[in-house]
Amino acid sequence: MKGLILSGGTGTRLRPITFTSAKQLVPVANKPILFYAIETVRAAGITEIGIIVGETKDEVKQAVGDGSRFGVAITYIEQEAPLGLAHAVKIAEPFIQDDTFVMFLGDNLIKDGICGLVDEFKQEKPNCQILLAHVPNPQAFGVAELEDGRIKSLVEKPKEPRSNLALVGVYMFDKNVFEAVNAIKPSRRGELEITDAIQYLVDAGYDVQPHVIEGWWKDTGKLEDMLEANRIMLENIETRIEGTVDKSSVVYGKVIVEAGAKIHGSVVRGPAIIGKSSKILHSYIGPFTSVHDNVTIRSSEVEHSIILAECVIENIGSRIEDSLLGRNVRVHRSEQRPRAYRLMVGDNSDVEVL
Ligand code: DAU
Repeated sequence: MKGLILSGGTGTRLRPITFTSAKQLVPVANKPILFYAIETVRAAGITEIGIIVGETKDEVKQAVGDGSRFGVAITYIEQEAPLGLAHAVKIAEPFIQDDTFVMFLGDNLIKDGICGLVDEFKQEKPNCQILLAHVPNPQAFGVAELEDGRIKSLVEKPKEPRSNLALVGVYMFDKNVFEAVNAIKPSRRGELEITDAIQYLVDAGYDVQPHVIEGWWKDTGKLEDMLEANRIMLENIETRIEGTVDKSSVVYGKVIVEAGAKIHGSVVRGPAIIGKSSKILHSYIGPFTSVHDNVTIRSSEVEHSIILAECVIENIGSRIEDSLLGRNVRVHRSEQRPRAYRLMVGDNSDVEVL
């Protein structure tokens, strides 16, 4: 069995954070979301993985490499434009050949992994197995309508959903999916939809098994989803202090302090992670905060946030919460007159001030 991980497309919903970079590489608990996908597929015993890449291909290739550090062999498959999930399957045929495969969307996180589901697929050998989860906002997903435990219909982002069962971004197929992706036509939004391909399999009488999962799963497109994913992943960390924590600092709960990081005169209340060579000086880092590498936080308080590499936060009088700062962002107090907010923020940013 092979793996196909989708890391193409553009990250419009997380702009400006992903304006110039792949949304799948935004870190959660300081690890790119895409790495969790690779590890989840590997944990299910799959070592031959194809990764679909698009405009951000150079960055993805640079981050993942040949896969050896994950114990897998990676083949990159270039998609000329984000023409749909079923289009990604179509162009992966020379890589998959006659094998069965699991397709994993590179922006999805599944806390409990997919080992049991892959085993079930291998044993029962349906033509396709899909995962479904109950969600409060089915309009944002592919939605399945079931009847007597079988799939009746699948609709991509319906305005009036017939159920609250969303398609999770993990699918298992045998080679018959290639017949489906070659038969369907682009949807109104101009994409070859995987929901249409699976509906084709259902209509053609192929065995498509739905599987409702109860564990935690997230499609990480938006800020609040990223913060939630960060929370869930930080809950799983084990304390590891490789950097230095001086005597005037206190570190509570599960905290990772990476090599070269310095905590000085500060309080860090876990779960939290402080990346390599970052400096936390006379500050408070509260629960559910991920601080990436080479960040400086001085005389400030940060909680429940994701701070990407190279940021500087200095002398901020009020606590920063529920925030995502992109790379190399500087937030600091200024004594300059006139007293005013001076901002340089990207498109589609959101700044809340006191
Ligand atoms: O997350 C689950 C949902 O994923 C499902 O419920 C939907 O049925 C399914 O269509 C998909 O919806 P999204 O709107 O979330 O898909 P998105 O465009 O975000 O693409 C998912 C991933 O696949 C993302 O990592 C980008 C990548 N991708 C996407 C397209 C359209 C590609 O690599 N190539 C593509 O052509």
